[in-house]
Amino acid sequence: MRKQIVAGNWKMNMTFPEGINLIQEIINNSTSLKEAQLIISPPYLLLNEAVSLTEETNIGIAAQNCSDHEKGAFTGEISAKMLSSLEMKYVILGHSERRAYFGETDQLINQKIKQCLTNGLQPIVCCGEIMEERENKEHFNVVAKQIKGMFERITAEEFDSIIIAYEPVWAIGTGKTASPDQAQEMHHFIRETIRNSYGSEIANNLSILYGGSCKPSNAKELFSNADVDGGLIGGASLNAKDFIAIAYSF
Ligand code: PGA
Repeated sequence: MRKQIVAGNWKMNMTFPEGINLIQEIINNSTSLKEAQLIISPPYLLLNEAVSLTEETNIGIAAQNCSDHEKGAFTGEISAKMLSSLEMKYVILGHSERRAYFGETDQLINQKIKQCLTNGLQPIVCCGEIMEERENKEHFNVVAKQIKGMFERITAEEFDSIIIAYEPVWAIGTGKTASPDQAQEMHHFIRETIRNSYGSEIANNLSILYGGSCKPSNAKELFSNADVDGGLIGGASLNAKDFIAIAYSF
Protein backbone atom coordinates (compact mmCIF):
# COMPACT_ATOMS: atom_id res chain seq x y z
CA MET A 1 0.00 0.00 0.00
CA ARG A 2 1.26 3.44 -0.82
CA LYS A 3 1.81 6.00 1.90
CA GLN A 4 -0.50 8.92 2.59
CA ILE A 5 1.67 11.96 3.12
CA VAL A 6 1.12 15.56 4.15
CA ALA A 7 4.24 17.68 3.66
CA GLY A 8 4.61 21.32 4.70
CA ASN A 9 6.74 23.52 2.45
CA TRP A 10 7.61 26.56 4.54
CA LYS A 11 9.45 28.28 1.66
CA MET A 12 11.42 31.36 2.84
CA ASN A 13 9.38 31.93 5.98
CA MET A 14 10.08 31.80 9.74
CA THR A 15 13.06 33.13 11.67
CA PHE A 16 15.01 30.62 13.75
CA PRO A 17 12.99 31.10 16.99
CA GLU A 18 9.65 31.25 15.12
CA GLY A 19 10.54 28.04 13.31
CA ILE A 20 11.43 26.22 16.53
CA ASN A 21 8.06 27.24 18.01
CA LEU A 22 6.16 26.04 14.95
CA ILE A 23 7.94 22.67 14.92
CA GLN A 24 7.17 22.24 18.62
CA GLU A 25 3.53 23.14 18.05
CA ILE A 26 3.26 20.65 15.17
CA ILE A 27 4.80 17.92 17.35
CA ASN A 28 2.45 18.68 20.26
CA ASN A 29 -0.65 18.62 18.06
CA SER A 30 0.14 15.49 16.06
CA THR A 31 0.94 12.90 18.73
CA SER A 32 -2.12 10.77 17.94
CA LEU A 33 -1.99 11.19 14.14
CA LYS A 34 -2.10 7.83 12.36
CA GLU A 35 -3.75 8.82 9.08
CA ALA A 36 -0.73 10.24 7.30
CA GLN A 37 3.03 10.57 7.33
CA LEU A 38 3.80 14.19 8.26
CA ILE A 39 6.80 15.88 6.68
CA ILE A 40 8.06 19.36 7.54
CA SER A 41 10.27 21.27 5.12
CA PRO A 42 11.74 24.32 6.86
CA PRO A 43 14.54 26.49 5.43
CA TYR A 44 18.08 25.01 5.58
CA LEU A 45 18.84 27.08 8.69
CA LEU A 46 16.39 25.07 10.78
CA LEU A 47 17.07 21.57 9.45
CA ASN A 48 19.48 20.46 12.16
CA GLU A 49 17.13 21.57 14.95
CA ALA A 50 14.13 20.11 13.12
CA VAL A 51 15.84 16.72 12.95
CA SER A 52 16.71 16.69 16.67
CA LEU A 53 13.32 17.99 17.82
CA THR A 54 11.43 15.34 15.82
CA GLU A 55 13.79 12.48 16.66
CA GLU A 56 11.29 10.61 18.86
CA THR A 57 8.32 11.30 16.56
CA ASN A 58 7.08 9.96 13.21
CA ILE A 59 7.55 13.35 11.56
CA GLY A 60 9.95 13.39 8.62
CA ILE A 61 12.14 16.36 7.66
CA ALA A 62 12.71 17.61 4.12
CA ALA A 63 15.05 20.19 2.62
CA GLN A 64 13.54 22.51 0.00
CA ASN A 65 16.38 22.09 -2.49
CA CYS A 66 19.92 20.75 -2.92
CA SER A 67 22.82 21.22 -5.30
CA ASP A 68 23.14 19.28 -8.54
CA HIS A 69 26.87 18.89 -7.77
CA GLU A 70 28.54 16.47 -5.40
CA LYS A 71 30.82 19.02 -3.67
CA GLY A 72 33.33 21.79 -4.31
CA ALA A 73 33.52 25.46 -5.24
CA PHE A 74 29.80 26.30 -5.44
CA THR A 75 29.43 29.19 -3.01
CA GLY A 76 26.10 29.25 -1.20
CA GLU A 77 25.07 25.74 -2.22
CA ILE A 78 24.19 22.74 -0.03
CA SER A 79 24.89 19.22 -1.25
CA ALA A 80 22.75 16.10 -0.90
CA LYS A 81 25.59 14.49 1.03
CA MET A 82 25.55 17.31 3.61
CA LEU A 83 21.79 16.90 4.02
CA SER A 84 22.05 13.18 4.42
CA SER A 85 24.70 13.66 7.14
CA LEU A 86 21.92 15.29 9.25
CA GLU A 87 20.05 12.00 9.07
CA MET A 88 17.06 13.59 7.43
CA LYS A 89 15.13 11.78 4.75
CA TYR A 90 13.50 13.96 2.09
CA VAL A 91 14.29 16.77 -0.37
CA ILE A 92 11.72 18.78 -2.37
CA LEU A 93 12.99 19.18 -5.93
CA GLY A 94 11.78 20.99 -9.02
CA HIS A 95 9.33 23.30 -7.27
CA SER A 96 7.79 25.74 -9.75
CA GLU A 97 9.32 28.66 -7.83
CA ARG A 98 12.77 27.12 -8.41
CA ARG A 99 11.93 26.76 -12.09
CA ALA A 100 10.49 30.27 -12.47
CA TYR A 101 12.89 32.33 -10.34
CA PHE A 102 16.12 30.30 -10.50
CA GLY A 103 15.89 28.93 -14.03
CA GLU A 104 15.84 25.25 -13.06
CA THR A 105 15.27 22.90 -15.98
CA ASP A 106 14.15 19.27 -16.08
CA GLN A 107 17.78 18.31 -16.86
CA LEU A 108 19.11 20.15 -13.81
CA ILE A 109 16.40 18.61 -11.61
CA ASN A 110 17.42 15.21 -13.01
CA GLN A 111 20.97 15.81 -11.73
CA LYS A 112 19.63 16.81 -8.33
CA ILE A 113 17.45 13.68 -8.17
CA LYS A 114 20.56 11.60 -8.88
CA GLN A 115 22.49 13.37 -6.11
CA CYS A 116 19.67 12.64 -3.66
CA LEU A 117 19.37 8.99 -4.64
CA THR A 118 23.13 8.47 -4.39
CA ASN A 119 22.99 9.83 -0.86
CA GLY A 120 19.96 7.86 0.33
CA LEU A 121 17.52 10.80 0.29
CA GLN A 122 13.94 10.52 -0.98
CA PRO A 123 13.12 13.27 -3.49
CA ILE A 124 9.66 14.85 -3.52
CA VAL A 125 9.63 15.85 -7.17
CA CYS A 126 7.25 18.58 -8.35
CA CYS A 127 5.56 18.98 -11.71
CA GLY A 128 2.68 21.08 -13.02
CA GLU A 129 1.48 23.40 -15.75
CA ILE A 130 0.86 27.15 -15.89
CA MET A 131 -2.66 28.48 -16.57
CA GLU A 132 -1.97 29.31 -20.21
CA GLU A 133 -0.89 25.71 -20.86
CA ARG A 134 -4.08 24.41 -19.27
CA GLU A 135 -6.21 26.83 -21.27
CA ASN A 136 -4.48 25.62 -24.44
CA LYS A 137 -5.16 22.02 -23.34
CA GLU A 138 -1.42 21.32 -23.21
CA HIS A 139 -1.32 20.40 -19.51
CA PHE A 140 -0.96 16.63 -20.00
CA ASN A 141 1.82 17.11 -22.55
CA VAL A 142 3.62 19.59 -20.30
CA VAL A 143 3.54 17.25 -17.29
CA ALA A 144 4.52 14.22 -19.42
CA LYS A 145 7.52 16.15 -20.76
CA GLN A 146 8.59 17.25 -17.26
CA ILE A 147 8.36 13.65 -16.02
CA LYS A 148 10.34 12.32 -18.98
CA GLY A 149 13.12 14.89 -18.50
CA MET A 150 13.33 14.73 -14.73
CA PHE A 151 13.44 10.93 -14.53
CA GLU A 152 15.76 10.28 -17.43
CA ARG A 153 18.05 7.33 -16.70
CA ILE A 154 16.49 6.77 -13.26
CA THR A 155 16.17 3.01 -12.89
CA ALA A 156 13.10 1.19 -11.55
CA GLU A 157 15.02 0.27 -8.42
CA GLU A 158 15.92 3.92 -7.81
CA PHE A 159 12.42 5.11 -8.63
CA ASP A 160 11.05 3.15 -5.70
CA SER A 161 11.96 5.97 -3.29
CA ILE A 162 10.48 8.81 -5.38
CA ILE A 163 7.44 10.84 -4.29
CA ILE A 164 5.73 13.05 -6.90
CA ALA A 165 3.86 16.29 -6.19
CA TYR A 166 1.46 17.62 -8.81
CA GLU A 167 1.32 21.37 -8.33
CA PRO A 168 -0.58 23.32 -10.97
CA VAL A 169 1.36 26.60 -10.97
CA TRP A 170 -1.84 28.64 -11.24
CA ALA A 171 -3.02 27.22 -7.91
CA ILE A 172 0.14 27.91 -5.88
CA GLY A 173 -0.34 30.70 -3.36
CA THR A 174 -3.27 32.08 -5.36
CA GLY A 175 -6.22 30.75 -3.37
CA LYS A 176 -7.38 28.98 -6.56
CA THR A 177 -7.43 25.22 -6.07
CA ALA A 178 -7.67 22.56 -8.73
CA SER A 179 -11.09 20.94 -8.50
CA PRO A 180 -11.08 17.40 -7.10
CA ASP A 181 -11.82 16.15 -10.65
CA GLN A 182 -8.96 18.12 -12.18
CA ALA A 183 -6.59 16.82 -9.49
CA GLN A 184 -7.73 13.20 -9.88
CA GLU A 185 -7.52 13.36 -13.67
CA MET A 186 -3.90 14.58 -13.59
CA HIS A 187 -2.82 12.29 -10.76
CA HIS A 188 -4.24 9.33 -12.66
CA PHE A 189 -2.41 10.47 -15.78
CA ILE A 190 0.87 10.72 -13.82
CA ARG A 191 0.41 7.25 -12.33
CA GLU A 192 -0.30 5.74 -15.77
CA THR A 193 2.76 7.52 -17.23
CA ILE A 194 4.90 5.99 -14.49
CA ARG A 195 3.21 2.59 -15.03
CA ASN A 196 4.24 2.69 -18.69
CA SER A 197 7.88 3.34 -17.82
CA TYR A 198 8.35 1.46 -14.56
CA GLY A 199 5.59 -1.15 -14.32
CA SER A 200 2.52 -1.65 -12.15
CA GLU A 201 4.12 -2.41 -8.82
CA ILE A 202 6.07 0.86 -8.75
CA ALA A 203 3.13 2.89 -10.11
CA ASN A 204 0.75 1.45 -7.51
CA ASN A 205 3.19 2.15 -4.68
CA LEU A 206 3.94 5.71 -5.79
CA SER A 207 2.59 8.47 -3.52
CA ILE A 208 1.35 11.41 -5.60
CA LEU A 209 0.68 14.57 -3.58
CA TYR A 210 -1.46 17.51 -4.62
CA GLY A 211 -0.15 21.04 -4.05
CA GLY A 212 -1.73 24.44 -4.66
CA SER A 213 -3.86 26.33 -2.11
CA CYS A 214 -4.69 23.12 -0.23
CA LYS A 215 -6.26 23.98 3.14
CA PRO A 216 -8.44 22.39 5.83
CA SER A 217 -11.63 23.37 3.95
CA ASN A 218 -10.75 21.58 0.70
CA ALA A 219 -8.30 18.84 1.74
CA LYS A 220 -10.93 16.16 2.43
CA GLU A 221 -12.50 16.46 -1.00
CA LEU A 222 -9.11 16.45 -2.72
CA PHE A 223 -7.74 13.51 -0.70
CA SER A 224 -10.86 11.40 -1.27
CA ASN A 225 -9.77 10.80 -4.87
CA ALA A 226 -8.28 7.41 -5.67
CA ASP A 227 -4.97 8.77 -7.00
CA VAL A 228 -4.47 11.67 -4.58
CA ASP A 229 -2.26 10.37 -1.78
CA GLY A 230 -1.87 13.57 0.21
CA GLY A 231 -0.66 17.11 -0.16
CA LEU A 232 2.32 19.42 -0.44
CA ILE A 233 1.15 22.40 1.58
CA GLY A 234 2.61 25.91 1.37
CA GLY A 235 0.75 28.74 3.11
CA ALA A 236 -1.42 26.54 5.34
CA SER A 237 1.64 24.68 6.68
CA LEU A 238 2.77 27.84 8.52
CA ASN A 239 -0.09 27.42 10.96
CA ALA A 240 0.20 24.26 13.09
CA LYS A 241 -3.55 23.82 13.57
CA ASP A 242 -4.34 24.16 9.85
CA PHE A 243 -1.48 21.88 8.88
CA ILE A 244 -2.55 19.15 11.31
CA ALA A 245 -6.21 19.56 10.30
CA ILE A 246 -5.16 18.84 6.70
CA ALA A 247 -3.36 15.70 7.86
CA TYR A 248 -6.55 14.52 9.58
CA SER A 249 -8.52 14.95 6.33
CA PHE A 250 -8.11 11.40 5.00
P1 PGA B 1 0.39 26.90 -1.41
O1 PGA B 1 1.81 26.38 -1.91
O2 PGA B 1 -0.23 25.81 -0.56
O3 PGA B 1 0.70 28.15 -0.61
O4 PGA B 1 -0.42 27.19 -2.62
C1 PGA B 1 2.02 25.04 -2.28
C2 PGA B 1 3.46 24.84 -2.70
O5 PGA B 1 4.03 25.73 -3.31
O6 PGA B 1 4.06 23.79 -2.42
